[in-house]
Amino acid sequence: MKYTFDDIKNTREQLLAEKDSKPVSQLIKSPSIGALFALLRTMPADQRAQFGKELNDLRSEVLSWSTEEQEAEVAPVDVTAPWDVNTPSDKRPRYIDTSLGSTHVLTSELEKISEIFQRMGFALEDSRQIDDDYHMFESLNFPEGHPARDDWDTFMTDEGLIAPAHTSTMQNRVMKKYKEQLMSGEPIVAVIAGRTFRNEDLDARHEHTFHQVEGVYVDEGVQVGHLVGTFKTFLTDYFGKEVGVKITPFYFPFTEPSFEFSLTCPFCAPEASDCPVCSGEHWIELMGMGMIHPNVLKEAGIDSEKITGFAWGFGVERLVMMKNNIEDIRHFNSGKLEFLRQFRGVK
Ligand code: FA5
Repeated sequence: MKYTFDDIKNTREQLLAEKDSKPVSQLIKSPSIGALFALLRTMPADQRAQFGKELNDLRSEVLSWSTEEQEAEVAPVDVTAPWDVNTPSDKRPRYIDTSLGSTHVLTSELEKISEIFQRMGFALEDSRQIDDDYHMFESLNFPEGHPARDDWDTFMTDEGLIAPAHTSTMQNRVMKKYKEQLMSGEPIVAVIAGRTFRNEDLDARHEHTFHQVEGVYVDEGVQVGHLVGTFKTFLTDYFGKEVGVKITPFYFPFTEPSFEFSLTCPFCAPEASDCPVCSGEHWIELMGMGMIHPNVLKEAGIDSEKITGFAWGFGVERLVMMKNNIEDIRHFNSGKLEFLRQFRGVK
């Protein structure tokens, strides 16, 4: 289609002529303006910016013709009207007063959790929000076709990349990163925090997007007692008191032996059978843990004959729920102000 900058000028003149007989709400929807925006999309990139700017200026000018009487009549803004968001503008955004906001409870609790682990000597690492088959499965001793792969309800892209279902995807990277340190006699001691994703049926304790903190400790002579002792030390510090825990045998391909670690449910009476948070179990599963499988150590280039290690992965939302009496995990991502405001100013 052919066009000139005169098209904008001509449209302006036509609209000016109609200005006194039509309200701005009608002028702004004029087919001539619509046609110019349609034209804009077909233009070569080098002319689009200038043409778009002039067009948006025209649109702003037409809006400015609105008289007070017209404004009273035409209060709602037409959010569907065409607008080129790429056009440079001199206008500045209105900033929201930051004193009205507050740190999200998950962010502040993650800071507390990280601070405790740092004091205990753990290095902090971040997890990733997109990963690959090798780190999600292969490096964790799930060879191709392993039936346990089906237990992980992962989201995948068309290219085969994976939104990680757990922070264990970082184990191999962290062990490789700190391997030199291990060779020189220092243990690998790291926690990895990150966002994780699962294709889940949602309820009071299951979200599709949640956070985990993974712990990895690798050295000579490490055993299960160290794992339990280390984690209980963290819990006592985090809750400010000893909390009831239950450890039961479990199966993960990447740890041997493996366990599930649960905390007493703070939301139900001991004899109640209908608690919606723990489903009447009286325990809420907090994490999986175990001794790192020799194949996982070997995959990271570590001598599994000489060296052992433990790992855990806990759900941050579940831990924060239990400390702060939050009875439904879905509150965290809800954006509900009445929920968020409870934690304003809580340090
Ligand atoms: C794992 O994710 C293992 N990677 C844990 C692990 C790490 C085992 C290292 C051994 C060694 P599991 O699927 O059980 O395990 O999840 C661990 C924790 O994440 C759960 O106990 C729970 O606290 C949290 N979690 C799991 N799924 C959800 C969900 N849909 N919503 C909220 N939290 C969840």
